[in-house]
Formats: sequence, C-alpha cells, structure tokens
Amino acid sequence: VEPVVETDVLIVGSGPAGASAALALSTYGVPNIVVTRYASLADTPRAHITNQRTMEVLRDLGVEQEVVAQATPQHLMGNTTFCTSLAGEELGRVRSWGNDPLVQAAHDLASPTRMCDMPQHLMEPVLVDAAVARGTHLRFSTVYKSFVQDADGVTVTVEDRLRGDEYTIRAKYLIGADGGRSKVAEDAGLPMGGQMGVAGSINIVFDADLSKYTAHRPSTLYWVLAPGATVGGIGAGLVRNVRPWNEWMIVWGYDVTAGAPDLTTEYAESIVRRLVGDDEIPVTIKSSSAWTVNEMYAETYSNGRVFCAGDATHRHPPSNGLGSNTSVQDAYNLAWKLRLVLDGMASPKLLDTYTAERAPVGRQIVTRANKSIGETAPIFEALDGLSPQSPEQLWANIAARKDATEAAEKQRARLREAIAFKVYEFNAHGVDLNQRYVSDAVVPDGTPDPGFDRDPELYHQPSSRPGAKLPHAWITAGDRTLSTLDAAGQGRFTLFTGIGGEGWVRAAEAVGLDIATVVIGPGQQYEDPYGDWARLSEVSDSGVLLVRPDGYVAFRYATAVRDAEELLGGAVRRILGR
Ligand code: FDA
Repeated sequence: VEPVVETDVLIVGSGPAGASAALALSTYGVPNIVVTRYASLADTPRAHITNQRTMEVLRDLGVEQEVVAQATPQHLMGNTTFCTSLAGEELGRVRSWGNDPLVQAAHDLASPTRMCDMPQHLMEPVLVDAAVARGTHLRFSTVYKSFVQDADGVTVTVEDRLRGDEYTIRAKYLIGADGGRSKVAEDAGLPMGGQMGVAGSINIVFDADLSKYTAHRPSTLYWVLAPGATVGGIGAGLVRNVRPWNEWMIVWGYDVTAGAPDLTTEYAESIVRRLVGDDEIPVTIKSSSAWTVNEMYAETYSNGRVFCAGDATHRHPPSNGLGSNTSVQDAYNLAWKLRLVLDGMASPKLLDTYTAERAPVGRQIVTRANKSIGETAPIFEALDGLSPQSPEQLWANIAARKDATEAAEKQRARLREAIAFKVYEFNAHGVDLNQRYVSDAVVPDGTPDPGFDRDPELYHQPSSRPGAKLPHAWITAGDRTLSTLDAAGQGRFTLFTGIGGEGWVRAAEAVGLDIATVVIGPGQQYEDPYGDWARLSEVSDSGVLLVRPDGYVAFRYATAVRDAEELLGGAVRRILGR
C-alpha cells in the first residue's frame, strides 16, 4: 500500500507523554500527527500529582495558567492522613507535597512554579487543545498496528476504527507514547528490566460529599489502614480527592494471583463504605476498573527512528506521583532534539542522548515508587497488623495505643516514626528536581562532582554544573520580575553571562545557531537586585552558562577567555553532534 499521509513526527497516544510531545513539537513548528486509540481523551482521573518540574515545562510551553486555573492548589493537598476510615480513628498525618513550612520554603526557592493536583482527565485536554491550536493533527479512534523503518523514515500502519479500514502514515520519526502496554516499544524490541503485574489494584471513581471528614484536614490522599488493606495494590486503602470535596477515587488492592474481582456497582459500593466508614452519606459510583502494579523500565528508549516515552518506557505504581510527571519530562527532553535534527542543525547523534539522559531517570523513579509501597508496611508493623489475623486483633492493637502503659508509649513512638518516614513518598523534592544528565549533549567543565550535601531524594540542590537544570533566581528587566528559567527556554539555546562577558555574547552570535543571550548585572538588560543569581550561578560575572532549550546547562566556563568563540563553538558542535 502506498503511503497516503506524510508528516515529520507521528505520535502514538494522547496521554501526558504523547500530548506533551505534540505540544512541544507544534510550539517549535515541527509538523506532527497524533493518533490515539479511543474516541476521547482520558475519561478517568488517573495521574494527578503535578510537580514543580512539570509545571516549569508547562510554563515554558505556555499552558501553566490553564493548569493552575483548573487544578486543586497546593495548600489543599497537604495533610496526608492515616486513619482506620474517613469517619474512623485518625492515626497521624504527614504535611506533604511541600506543605511543611520548611519544605514550602524549599519549593519557593527552587522554582517559579507551584506543584498542584491536576487530574489526568483535566490535564490532557489542556495539552491537546494547545497542541492542536498550534498545528498538531489529531486523529481519534485510530489504532497503531505496526511499523517498518528504513534509512529515511518510518511507515506506520494504522486502523481507522470509524471507517474500519487501515491506512499508512509516512513519518521521519515515530514516537511511541502508547502507555504501559506499549505495542510500539514491543515492536521496536526495546529491552526491558523488571516485571509486570506484581500486584493488583482497583480504581473506583465516585461522587460523595465528604467535606465533613476532609475539609478540616484538606488533603489529596487519605490512607486507610483496615483489615485486608495490605493485600495487593499499594499496601493500604487509599481515598484520593479528585475535586474538593465531592469527587473521589478509591484505590484498593486485590490478590493478583486470584485475578480481579467482579467489579459490580455493589462491590464498588462495599469498598467505598468500608473506607469512608459512614453509611449515611449518599454515594454515586461513576466507574471502576482493575489495573496491575508494574515494576518495569526500558534500558533503551529508541530503535533507529522510533522513540518511546512515558509509561511505554517506565511502569510503576502511583506512589510519589511520578508517572505523568516523568512522561511530560521525557517528551520535553526529546522534542527539541528532534526539532534540531529535522532542521538539519544537529546530527541524528543528538537523538542518542535521549536514552542516555532519560533511561536513568526512568529506572530511578520505578525503583523509588516501588520502594515507597514497601515503606507503608512499618505503619502496619507498628500496630502489629501485618501478620494474618482476625480484624478484631487489628482493632484491638489500634485501641491499645491509647493505653497508659510503657508498651503503648513505645507503640505510639513507632507509629509516629513510621508515618513520618513516608516523607520519602510525599515530600521527595529531590526526586522531583535533582536529575543530572550525563550525555554527549552536555559538556563537562572538568570540575569534580560535588555530590549532594543532604539526602538527594528529599532535598533539592541547585547547581549550574553542566547536566543540571538551570538554577531558578528572580531577576528583573525594568519593572518586570522574571525567573531565570523564563529568560531561557522557548525552544532556543540561551547564553547567560554578566558584566565582562561581551566575548561570550559575540561568540554566541558567531556560532551559527539561534542562541538567545541574557546579560545580568547593574545597568544591563537584566538585573539581579536580590543577589540571588550571583549566589546561584557558580561562575564569575564574566563567566558563562549555555542553557539548552529544555533548561539544562550544557556548557559553562567560570570566567571570560580570549578564545570564547572557539570554546563555545566547540561546545555547540559537540552538543549538536556535528
Ligand atoms: P497513557 O497511558 O496516559 O497514554 C497512552 C495513550 O496511548 C492513550 O491515549 C491510549 O489511548 C493510547 N494508545 C495505546 N495504545 C494505542 C495504540 N495501539 N494505538 C493508538 N493509541 C494507543 N498514575 C498515578 O500517578 N496515579 C493514579 O492514580 C493512576 N491511575 C491510573 C489508572 C489507570 C486506569 C491507568 C491506565 C493509569 C493510571 N496511572 C496513575 C498512571 C498514569 O496514568 C500514567 O503514568 C501516565 O498516564 C503515563 O502517560 P503516558 O502518556 O505515557 O501513557
């Protein structure tokens, strides 16, 4: 069959990964088509925690405000509560998602953005609408079937479910953003580590006014420790807020070896009753579905002209809320590279840096998310509630913590510690922001890796070392205050320098690549009134940082030099693989 449709990039899937890839590519002016299996975007809340790095990506792509307008704000996310049911006894809380005052300060220092709770069924339309408005062609009810690639492109067969026939699309590159059961990744033969189906989970979406049990301790998540809650799933029953305080989703485990239970409305209602603990409240079940907890990551994210992103390459439980965040960030990493290669500015070698940079992140988050499940067990242990036993025994253990005995005091301490340890799931600011890329698209400056001063999973540590994300500092341009991140991005490389750095600015103009220049200092285009930039830049005023379109530092030099043109030119050629 002759190809009937041609494009530069064909994207399979309209989830967070595919929609962000489309949005970034269209923003950069790269022609692209999205095909997606169903007749609509996600119809259930699915992923929701949206971290600062994702918000930075969305800010650069011009949709941050749309997301903020629809999301549940950070201050309503933060009282992760452990209880026997919403109406039952409370065992303790964690100030989470940046709501601890010290962590909140760290969030404010780290980024111009705030994290928020943006359910996937609200997020996808924002991304897709903007992508389509900027040029993406979107085909619903269109299923990817197979691909064949050659030296110049990829020929993809898709099925039009409306017409019931198949046709082919010829693209220069194919992105498989087709989720946790990715056929593109399978057909591309991407090597995978880990395993699928390690535990079973059920999602139940329902309407109920639960403000009586939640508005005074506003949170995204309420964890219910009840008999049976350690089976499968994520290690406890979870009541998750979708919209404050009348739309909800419950996550409840099942024994994966026994198969998913029959998901009748009666079954769903019985789980809701059990976790809410108040039969008087009217409940309307909207949907229920079964899924499995996976622990898998691809070792390589591409094969020739085929690239995978999102759950196609990393599959893990929702703990730490990393799934959709990592998917958006994968797409953002890939998009500018494709653009430069398609424009002929970079060699296709640049595309190899996609795996080099993102596969370690994928492996890290899969491991982190699964570890977080295991870290719920000590809470049950503190109540002697892990071993098989009667429900009566668990209730008795929970009651015993109120006794005025030495044993009960020890138990209270153990419980407090076990709950506080969940900070690795609910406040892992370092996991969100500390990625350091090592690849050919980063030029090391010869300085030794300083490592991390504090726990790299919990604490963000800014750095301007090549491979780190550009540090955020508030700078000014006249009466406008903006982040250093705002001065970078928008699809371009950006050169940051200061007084005495004219040589670097001239070098940027001579290098033959569209590089924006940002000069910061008294009387310059940008000023640093708080001294934040001086504190964070780690180079002298006449030094330089070259920042990639995705906001990562690609090259730095501490001072002015005579041969700036040669040095910068060499760095750019190396990054672009020329
Ligand atoms: P995603 O799965 O979102 O998108 C895949 C896209 O590819 C879809 O548009 C799909 O229709 C399309 N597609 C698949 N095969 C295709 C084919 N052959 N042809 C054409 N199109 C095809 N995470 C979390 O943090 N908290 C949560 O509670 C949940 N809950 C949850 C529930 C359910 C039911 C699912 C499926 C997933 C979750 N997740 C989650 C995970 C989270 O949704 C996930 O990490 C991100 O959506 C990943 O984004 P992607 O874009 O990679 O895949």
